This record gives sequence, C-alpha cells and structure tokens, in this order.
Amino acid sequence: MRKGIWDCRFQIPDFGLQSQICNPQSAILRGVRLAPNGPVQDVCLREGRLEEVRPICNLQSAIRNIEGDGHLLLPGMIDPHVHLRSPGMEAAEDWDSGTRAAARGGVTALFDMPNTRPATTTPARLEEKRALAGVSRVDWGLYLGATSGNPEAIASAGNIAAVKVYMGSSTGDLLVDDEEPLERVFRAAAAAGVPVALHAEDEGIIRARMAALRGDEDATIHGWVRPPEAAAAAVRRALALGERTGAALYFCHVSTEAELALLREAKRAGRAVVVEATPHHLFLDEEDVRRLGNYGKVNPPLRSQRDCAALWEAIRDGTVDVIGTDHAPHAREAKERPYPEAPSGMPGLETALPLLLTAVLEGRLGFERMVDLTSGSAARCFGVESAGWVLADLSTEHSLEPGEIQSRCGWSPFVGRRLRGWPVKVWVRGALVFDGGRFGKAGTGREVCFRREG
Ligand code: NCD
Ligand code: ZN
Ligand code: ZN
Ligand code: ZN
Repeated sequence: MRKGIWDCRFQIPDFGLQSQICNPQSAILRGVRLAPNGPVQDVCLREGRLEEVRPICNLQSAIRNIEGDGHLLLPGMIDPHVHLRSPGMEAAEDWDSGTRAAARGGVTALFDMPNTRPATTTPARLEEKRALAGVSRVDWGLYLGATSGNPEAIASAGNIAAVKVYMGSSTGDLLVDDEEPLERVFRAAAAAGVPVALHAEDEGIIRARMAALRGDEDATIHGWVRPPEAAAAAVRRALALGERTGAALYFCHVSTEAELALLREAKRAGRAVVVEATPHHLFLDEEDVRRLGNYGKVNPPLRSQRDCAALWEAIRDGTVDVIGTDHAPHAREAKERPYPEAPSGMPGLETALPLLLTAVLEGRLGFERMVDLTSGSAARCFGVESAGWVLADLSTEHSLEPGEIQSRCGWSPFVGRRLRGWPVKVWVRGALVFDGGRFGKAGTGREVCFRREG
C-alpha cells in the first residue's frame, strides 16, 4: 500500500487490539482506488485512519463493508479560509447550512474567519462562536480578528488558526492599516507564537480609486478599483513587518503575478511564509465578470489571464502552498444591488474538489500535488491532523444546478460547469457525514487542535 501522502503513522499490531480494530468506527471499503489510475483495492478505515485490510478486519467487520464502486478515495479537504457568517449574517449562511455545503464538497475541516457581526476579536467572542459551531458537521477551527487595540486578546486567545488582519477593507468592519497598530498586531502574534493571516490589499490605493468613481459603473470596474498594485504594495509591506517582528505569515487569496514574484523571493530567502490561492482565481478570470456581474465581484478581484496563468505556474512550482476556498456567500438580494453597494465574495465549499479533480483528470495538475494543496500542506502549516476521507466519482460528469446547492446563498459562479470528481461519500473521523445526497447528523464536527512548536 502506498505511503507518503497518506497519514499512516498509526500502526496497529496484528494481534491484541481486536476490539479496537473492529469497533463501530471502522469500515472496510471494497474496491476503491487511491490514485486516479491506481489499481482497485480494499482498504480499512479505522477512526479516520487508512490501513491495509488485514485478515482480522475481514473476519470481524462484515457489518461495515462499504462498496467503493471503483471510486477514488482521497483525504478530505482542510479549508483554511471560510466565512460561515454566523453570528450576525445568517441570511447568507450559518454553521448548519455552511457545514452541509462543506460535507457535500468533501471539505472535512474548515477554519472560520472573524468578519462576522459582531467580529470575533476577543476571547469572549471566540467562546460565543464556539457555541454556534456546536452544530458543525465537519471539524472546525476559528480565527481571531485583529483590531488596532486588541493585542491582549491575541496574547490570551488560546486555540486559534491565526490572527486575521485586514490591511484593506473587505466585507465587515475589520481593518488595521496604520503602521503602528499593524506592528503591534504582528509583535503580539509573534510573541503568542501564532501566525498572522493577511488580507493584503492596500487601503490607500483602493480608497483613491473608489473616490474617482462616478457611481454608475458595473462590476467590470472592480479590477481597476482594487488593482494588482494594491495587492503587491500590501504584500511588500507585510513582508517588511514580518521581517521586523518575526511573525509567521499566511497570505490569503494571492492572485497576481506581482505578489507571487515577491513571495517566491521571500520563500527563497527562507522566510516563514505560507501562500494560499483560491479556486475562483484559478478557474475564473476578469472575462467572467462580464457574464457574472456582481456575482463575480470578489476581493481581491478576478484577474487577467496572465495573472491566472502565473497562479497556475506557482501552483506547480510550489510557491503556492495551500488552496483555501475563501467561501464567502452573500444573499442574492445583496448581490442584485447596484455595483457600488453589492458585497464582495462568492461561495466555494461545494465546488473546490470537483474543480481540482477535473483539472487533475485533464492533466493540468498532478494528483499527489493536488492532495498536498488541499490537505497535507494545511495540516502541516497549521499543525492539525487530517482525519477526513472522501470517496469521489471520477467517471460521472455532472454540472452543478442551483437546486442542489447546500449553501444558504443558493448560487455559485460555477453553475453549469461540467465537472467530474463529485464526492459520493464523506467521512469525518470515521463518521459518515455525507452519503450520496443524505447528510449525517449535525454536531459530528469537533474543534481541531492547533499544535505549534515552541
Ligand atoms: C470576503 C467576505 O465576504 O467575507 N469577501 C471577499 O470578497 N473575499 C472577505 C474577504 O476574504 O476579503
Ligand atoms: Zn483494519
Ligand atoms: Zn480577504
Ligand atoms: Zn475571505
């Protein structure tokens, strides 16, 4: 059996642990593939770990034999960038609808962003959100939002994915763009040993462009309002702050050739930098905004074909470490407003794996590289365990229809796209959370534990 990308550290002896081997959490999957062109084989899933089938499992786990139908078994996606909207914006999403979307899309762990209402900026607000997350169907973690005045919250936050800093304003009111408070946030994060996750767009450039608008423009202007220079300027500034303070940096939704050049250089110099790319910046570009209108309005904007090609190159050469969906649903009613008032963001939890698996089948991306981008790499850089599995159908082509969307927003920029690799069964730590259209019970998810050195 292949090792490497699979988490097989948990080895059980052949004799002596029979009761554990055959507890209700273990299942034998008959006839699955572990790579798109791999052989069809039987495997055992025990408490979220994949093992070779041993005679002892064959004998005693017959009640939990699952037919794999030759489908592909791969690790569940760990999505480090998700906006589940609760508290405060439940018309767009909440922890029930959003984690149904996650389960359906094969996302078995997700980290929720702090730009809710109220924003998650104190330990008390983290506790309130933990209570809401109790209904989650997949494993979850939380970000703390940085403000100009909450370094003590950073020091006492406890188990968080990272401190999120909006260097440019996006959905919600979180923003830190003056030098002194920014440096305080970076220092507090470095002292607490947590990374700084960045929405890196320069607020000054964006404001100047917005001031020049007449007000009757449509969404095709968005790429000009928030140009590549704004992203590159903020990345440059964050890298300098990181160098000065020693904070580890996680760059959200990197979308341009200019940012990638800076980040490639920083990584070459050995800096503690992790780079995220979103599916929408990989599979859509500024041309799509003509068709999508405000549904294609997102921060940072959909970019040129040249930027998109640079992002694919960075995916292949390892400059990009992680795929995060930036699942940012908004109600249709809000997206139907005129361009200046329509919110930015689009959903992504249900389509990320099918988009990427289709790209693998088309030869645009290696399968092992894809698995690392969607699970292995996030597990390593956030220090969490990957314990979800997805059985994906590579042979049936299916295009997403609005009626089957689980996200409360009810729309997707990828409706109508013919994709393969749709999940047919999804497990979180051995529990079936999605089974061909049916969902497991709410509350199966647990809070992940972020393990960090030092
Ligand atoms: C996100 C949202 O709506 O929460 N919007 C977006 O356009 N990406 C916020 C963000 O990640 O910037
Ligand atoms: Zn077994
Ligand atoms: Zn952002
Ligand atoms: Zn986001």
